[in-house]
Amino acid sequence: MPFPSPRSETSAAPAAVADGARPAAWGAPLQLGRFVLPNRVFAAPMAGVTDRPYRRLARQLGAGYCVSEMVTSRPELRDTLKTSRRANHDGEAAPVAVQIVGTEPDDIAAATRYNLERGAHVIDINMGCPAKKVCNRWAGSALMQDEDLAARLVEAAVAAARPFDAPVTLKMRAGWCDAARNAPRIARLAEAAGAAMLVVHGRTREQGYGGEAEYDTIAEVKRRVSVPVVANGDIDSPHKAAAVLHATGADAVMIGRAALGRPWLFGQVARFLADGALPADPPPAQWGEWLFDHLDDHYALYGEAVGVRSARKHVGWYVERLPGGIAFRRQFNTLGSAAEQLAALRDFLDPLAAAA
Ligand SMILES: Cc1cc2nc3c(=O)[nH]c(=O)nc-3n(C[C@H](O)[C@H](O)[C@H](O)COP(=O)(O)O)c2cc1C
Repeated sequence: MPFPSPRSETSAAPAAVADGARPAAWGAPLQLGRFVLPNRVFAAPMAGVTDRPYRRLARQLGAGYCVSEMVTSRPELRDTLKTSRRANHDGEAAPVAVQIVGTEPDDIAAATRYNLERGAHVIDINMGCPAKKVCNRWAGSALMQDEDLAARLVEAAVAAARPFDAPVTLKMRAGWCDAARNAPRIARLAEAAGAAMLVVHGRTREQGYGGEAEYDTIAEVKRRVSVPVVANGDIDSPHKAAAVLHATGADAVMIGRAALGRPWLFGQVARFLADGALPADPPPAQWGEWLFDHLDDHYALYGEAVGVRSARKHVGWYVERLPGGIAFRRQFNTLGSAAEQLAALRDFLDPLAAAA
């Protein structure tokens, strides 16, 4: 999958919400099965990004809930290092939500049990991923073309999760293509099959990550079901989050790309939804320390050889907006050890922190 850049705050927003029009519910916790989520701002699952170190940081900085990168439901791939690393939840705050992807009800049931036995508390089924690797196997958003199969997958997961008292959730797109925005129908079927929460990304499969997210389909989903609905797509600021909640009636928002390199966005949005306050961005000295902690966690999970390579994108997202950040990123990407990366980052950030 091409790696999209974080979005800037330029996407078209639904009508802004007047001060005072903020429902009290926006600042209240949200119940998901037996779990109470502290707020209504969630971190979106992103393969290759939202690993355990990222999720720990997102939670620390205000995300009320995070979902893991997707893991396959195919048993023959379960023992690969990548999949087992993704199923490692050591030290993660509850509820741990694991996203699974697959096309066979039996595989989905087995993957549900497998992940719940290994520390997951919530199972999320991915019907949103447009990646060819996933869609060609008739999984991800391709499943939205077969509503009956989509419902049977949810049913299979719900039955397998029942002994664990674990909620099953579904993440989908608005539809397969412009002519088939069938998320509202799938939402009804998923709710009837026992899904406890639905996340809707307001783009079709056909759109990939292009164009703009629309929120009318999400509003329609919300009207059709009584389980919580989470709005996702192009939410990049506190005001946009409020406008999307207002336009859709959704119960929560989920943020992906806009938080890359600025994970404090979760806390800023949560605060704005709760009481209208707009906390300032943290100074470089503060976020630098968060980033160093994140990198320590990152190297520890992946080991140095892999961790040094995968740390590059995270650091790139933080620095690309800063003066000299693009040149720094180019140089950073040539460094081959954790010690060199940490020292270079320190040398780049110290003057910025001193000047702030
Ligand atoms: C790099 C990348 C990886 C993604 N991986 C997943 C995934 O594994 N599962 C999933 O349901 N969605 C995945 N998504 C979609 C996001 O969860 C989210 O729905 C999408 O980015 C729209 O939200 P945003 O505009 O806030 O980024 C991915 C998106 C990106 C950019």
